[in-house]
Amino acid sequence: MTTPIDDRSFTAAQDFLLGMKSWWTRDLYPTLQEDFDRRAAKAGSEPTTVDDVDALIGDTVLYRTYSWLERHLQRFKYSGRYGLQPFHDQDRERLVDGLATEGLPEGALDLADDFDVPKYFRVVDIHQHPGGVWSDEIAGYVYERGARSTTPLAGKRHKDLHDRLTDRVEAGGVPRRLLDMGCGFGKSTGPFIERFRDADIVGVDIAAPCLKLAARDAAAAQARHARYVQADCTKTDFEDESFDLVTSTMLLHEMPPPEIEKTFREAHRLLEPGGRMVHVDFYDLPDPFRRYIHYGHARRNNEPYMEPWAEMDAVELLEETGFTNIEILPFEESDGTLAADYPYWRFPWTLIMAERA
Ligand SMILES: C[S@@+](CC[C@H](N)C(=O)[O-])C[C@H]1O[C@@H](n2cnc3c(N)ncnc32)[C@H](O)[C@@H]1O
Repeated sequence: MTTPIDDRSFTAAQDFLLGMKSWWTRDLYPTLQEDFDRRAAKAGSEPTTVDDVDALIGDTVLYRTYSWLERHLQRFKYSGRYGLQPFHDQDRERLVDGLATEGLPEGALDLADDFDVPKYFRVVDIHQHPGGVWSDEIAGYVYERGARSTTPLAGKRHKDLHDRLTDRVEAGGVPRRLLDMGCGFGKSTGPFIERFRDADIVGVDIAAPCLKLAARDAAAAQARHARYVQADCTKTDFEDESFDLVTSTMLLHEMPPPEIEKTFREAHRLLEPGGRMVHVDFYDLPDPFRRYIHYGHARRNNEPYMEPWAEMDAVELLEETGFTNIEILPFEESDGTLAADYPYWRFPWTLIMAERA
């Protein structure tokens, strides 16, 4: 029998992993960047492709150490002796009881019978989450706890990102009917729910364990203007022109290109004329070093669709789908992160915005 994991040991182990990840972010990454710059200067020709970057640093002990830590710190975080999965697993019964849907207000949660999770999502444990965010009843809890340290410098302030997105959305006008695609356990929908009290807000996701958590939290916050629906965002049952705003946060990079195309088409169908679409995702990669680092991250973190998405011509696709006023901009997820001399590792956060003509 495995010895139970007590709270103190779990917290200490997770704090240690987060400390290592912060060191990786603040020290190892800048050292790697310096090493790359030095090697590029010595080579005498400007690297322009990820292959050029690979030729310069791919075989170095520094890059290999950086890569090993990136993969395995995440693996330990989820599956190690003190990982999120075994820790939550030992408390399964109580956690599942906490997701009982009987007490929810009518319409707060709409789960499909026999929902068909798309194959592209079933075949890989995205971000090394064992079984993904959809297959285990307690996956929502595991994902929620894991998301607190997704961006190591932000720590508990990771919420910053979603609040900033809400500010950005509000600057374009207060929505009346908002759809948050790929809402997960409601972290991206929550700030919209808090800020836009007069709007009808719907979060959709394919992962029932996450939706249950989202609906429970919305009910606890007395948010009667919000509801969560299990649906594939490429083919929902909502009527044409049901929304004036469609959003997503960190959804697109989890889908293969044909699904992204369908998602944009579905958003176009669901928006009323003049309606807006605002996505935040990883897309803006202005130089080959950052592209190389991002594509490596994708491989090491089990994110097979990240690279194909970053290679897509989003402007062309959005134009073809019938959108206008297309804007693709780097997104400042925390103060100062877009400064040219910002030294630390970060995701290539990007705003993808467009309007239905
Ligand atoms: C990285 S999570 C982001 C969750 C949330 N938006 C946030 O910011 O915390 C991506 C979410 O997209 C969902 N997802 C992936 N493919 C989807 C699809 N075809 N339809 C709806 N949701 C999908 C996943 O289940 C997951 O919850």
